[in-house]
Amino acid sequence: MTLLFEPLTIRGVEFSNRAWVAPMCQYSADSKGIVGDWHLVTLGAYATGKAGLVMAEATGVSPEARISVACPGIWNDDQVVAWKRITDFIHTQGVKAGIQLAHAGRKASTSSPANGGGVLDPSQGGWQTFSATNRPFAEMSTPKAMDQEDIDRTIADFAAATVNADKAGFDVIELHSAHGYLMHQFLSPLSNDRTDEYGGSLENRMRFPLMVTAAVRAAWPAEKPLFVRISATDWADSGWDMEQSVVFVKELERIGVDLIDASSGGTLPVAAIPNEVNYQIDLAAQIKAQTGILTAAVGRITQSAQAEQLLEDQKADVCFLARQMLRDPHWPLRAAHELGAKIRWSDQMRAGASWSN
Ligand SMILES: Cc1cc2nc3c(=O)[nH]c(=O)nc-3n(C[C@H](O)[C@H](O)[C@H](O)COP(=O)(O)O)c2cc1C
Repeated sequence: MTLLFEPLTIRGVEFSNRAWVAPMCQYSADSKGIVGDWHLVTLGAYATGKAGLVMAEATGVSPEARISVACPGIWNDDQVVAWKRITDFIHTQGVKAGIQLAHAGRKASTSSPANGGGVLDPSQGGWQTFSATNRPFAEMSTPKAMDQEDIDRTIADFAAATVNADKAGFDVIELHSAHGYLMHQFLSPLSNDRTDEYGGSLENRMRFPLMVTAAVRAAWPAEKPLFVRISATDWADSGWDMEQSVVFVKELERIGVDLIDASSGGTLPVAAIPNEVNYQIDLAAQIKAQTGILTAAVGRITQSAQAEQLLEDQKADVCFLARQMLRDPHWPLRAAHELGAKIRWSDQMRAGASWSN
């Protein structure tokens, strides 16, 4: 038995292995935020590749929460029905399905990359964006600094989206509190310039993200795991950093968060990101060492031996892969072969399992 293919149980959910698919925006939903055949085929392929968990992309909890007009949502019943078709298929493969609930805040209201990815104002089909601040990110739209009503509405949106995620058959929710999106906008001193109880001290900057997390945990069945993706550092002086992340993670754990998915960056358009293969894996390792919570490593994991080694070194408990899954959606089948682990192929694909001819 290898560590990568050792099952993991969190609350009432058993994951068959620790090679997981990271959330990846597809910019392929229709104009109503409804997922379709593209999502079924791509997420379905990861399931036939036997990842332990397939995490669907950043999904808006409200229309204004979407990054782009082509991002999916989970705020209404039509969206739930479309997602259910996908989770049903993933489950036929013995694979667990997750959804990343997201609010893009001041990074919202864009066209899809296929259409240039530019900022859209309301007259072009875009919308008023919201943030901790009224300062825009780079050349993007000027956000409205959220007042208490906006904050209450947004928390209610997250809670309603959580109920919908359950109806849609998801086993896991991951809250997107990374990459300079709304929750991270409140956390980072570089994007939060408030003087009320949501800004200033670390306790105040954490308040909104913790309120969102508590509302989601309360609306999510007790037997289902809740993950949070954080940017463990802004890679910038005076920004969000590991020390603050450790405090935040301890608070998240107290609320009932089960796993931290450790990413980084996104607050600034340009940051001093180290150019080393393990730069982000070390962030997961530090969080695990300093808090003891389950952690996921993500970023530049491409090789089965590399994934196995980082688990053996106890840098993380699971591995999320993004770009390698784009290159090889059945990567877990290959990794199992390379590591000599037993894995059950789908009946239709079993002829490929011998690898010798
Ligand atoms: C096409 C694409 C879309 C992405 N979309 C998301 C997303 O929706 N949410 C998120 O948290 N990260 C997103 N990411 C980041 C990945 O989840 C991952 O953290 C990053 O690509 C580093 O992992 P890798 O080196 O295995 O690609 C995306 C990455 C790619 C390549």
